[in-house]
Amino acid sequence: MRIALVTGASRGIGAAIAAQLASDCKVLTPSRAELDLGSEQSLESYLAGLDQPIDILINDAGINRIAMLENIENKDLDDTLQINLLAPFRLIQFVAPQMKARNYGRIVNISSLLSVVSRAGRTSYSMSKTALNGMTRSLAVELAPYNILVNAVAPGYVMTDLTRQNNSATEIDKISQTIPIQRLAAPQEIASVVAFLCSEQNTYLTGQTIVVDGGYTCL
Ligand SMILES: NC(=O)c1ccc[n+]([C@@H]2O[C@H](COP(=O)([O-])OP(=O)(O)OC[C@H]3O[C@@H](n4cnc5c(N)ncnc54)[C@H](OP(=O)(O)O)[C@@H]3O)[C@@H](O)[C@H]2O)c1
Repeated sequence: MRIALVTGASRGIGAAIAAQLASDCKVLTPSRAELDLGSEQSLESYLAGLDQPIDILINDAGINRIAMLENIENKDLDDTLQINLLAPFRLIQFVAPQMKARNYGRIVNISSLLSVVSRAGRTSYSMSKTALNGMTRSLAVELAPYNILVNAVAPGYVMTDLTRQNNSATEIDKISQTIPIQRLAAPQEIASVVAFLCSEQNTYLTGQTIVVDGGYTCL
C-alpha cells in the first residue's frame, strides 16, 4: 500500500484530501504539534522520526496574512514564505531521494488562484504561491526521469476557515457572483483533482499548475 504524507490535514482542503486518499493509501497527517512548518527545528525532528518512505507528498498547509505593502511586518512575510514555500521545498528535498530509489513518486503542492491573479493586501501570499508554481515546474523537470510527477493545484475560493477568516459573509456573497459557477468550491472538489494527480491513473501529467476556480480566471 502506498504511503501518503499530507500537511495541513487537520481541517479544510487538507482534511478533504486526506479523506479521499485514505481509500487507497496509508495517510500520515501530522498535527501542528508534531510538525510545525514554521519551525526548522520541528521540521528536522519530524523528518528524523519518519521511519517509512513516502510515495505521495501533499503540501497543503498554508497561511494568508493580509496586509497592504506599507504594513507588511517582516515576521509575517518570513512566516508566509517559510510555511507556504520553504517548508514544502524542505519536505520535497527529504522525500525525493526515497522516491528516486523506488522509481515512483507523486507530489502535489497546493498553490492558489492568487498565484496567477491577485488582490490588494495579498503580496506576501501571492509571492509565496507564485514561487511554489515555479518550484513545481523546475522539480517536475528534474524528477521526471525517476517517475516522480510534481504538480500544483491552484484552488479558487473554497469554503474553509481561511476564506471565512479573510472575507466577511457579504464579501463571500459578492465573490460568489463573480464566479461563473456562482458559488465557492467545497474542499472535496479540490481534493478530487489532487487525488487524480497522485493516483496510478496519472502517468503523464507533470509540472502543471491546475487552476480549479469555477471559471473565475476565464472572465
Ligand atoms: N480556502 C481557500 O479558498 C483557498 C484558496 C486557494 C488556496 N488555498 C490554499 O489551500 C491550502 C489549505 O487552505 P485551507 O483553506 O484548507 O486552510 P485552513 O482551513 O486555514 O487550514 C490550514 C491548514 O494548514 C495548517 N497550518 C497552518 N500553519 C501551519 C504550520 N505552521 N504548521 C503546520 N500546519 C499549519 C493548519 O493547521 P492547524 O489546524 O494546526 O492550524 C490547517 O490544517 C493552503 O495552502 C491555502 O493557501 C486555499
